[in-house]
Amino acid sequence: MRHQTAILTISDRGSRGERQDLSGPALRERLELENVFDVVAEKIVSDEPDEIKVALTKWCDSGEISLILTTGGTGFSPRDLAPEATMAIIERPAPGFAEVMRFESLKITPHAMISRAVAGIRGTTLIVNFPGSPKAARECLGFILPALPHALEKLAGDPSDCGS
Ligand code: MTE
Repeated sequence: MRHQTAILTISDRGSRGERQDLSGPALRERLELENVFDVVAEKIVSDEPDEIKVALTKWCDSGEISLILTTGGTGFSPRDLAPEATMAIIERPAPGFAEVMRFESLKITPHAMISRAVAGIRGTTLIVNFPGSPKAARECLGFILPALPHALEKLAGDPSDCGS
């Protein structure tokens, strides 16, 4: 099964063209190594929660995207509101992804505890927040990749027994 994936970069400066977007491409490159993900959409939005919510909702409700990775806006700066925007539009939280990202990232840097990233499900789409630096985004994606295909198969309605 292949997974149609979208990547949303959340950055005021990136959306104004004042900073080159490196974390979106970093996530894309890492995903493409796995050979089960098709990155079919990529977008940069500002840190404005309404803009984030519109982009996420549109992709989820299109019925064409199984997975959305967001990058940026998970920290403590006043405009870091990616988790709040994500929580506002999800229907079911999926805390395990953020739990493993922080747990594993803490072995690399104590700053990992600053990321407030969340994950959750809207319809048949899984949304996962990632920190904004290319290094952090790449590392965090590596930690959750082992469970992503199985999670997305279940979300798409795979009725088979787990572990069989
Ligand atoms: N996680 C990993 N794996 N590696 C990192 O270098 N950087 C941290 C953290 N998570 C980091 C990480 C830092 S410095 C910050 S401030 C937070 O993610 C939030 O980043 P964001 O505001 O760009 O989303």
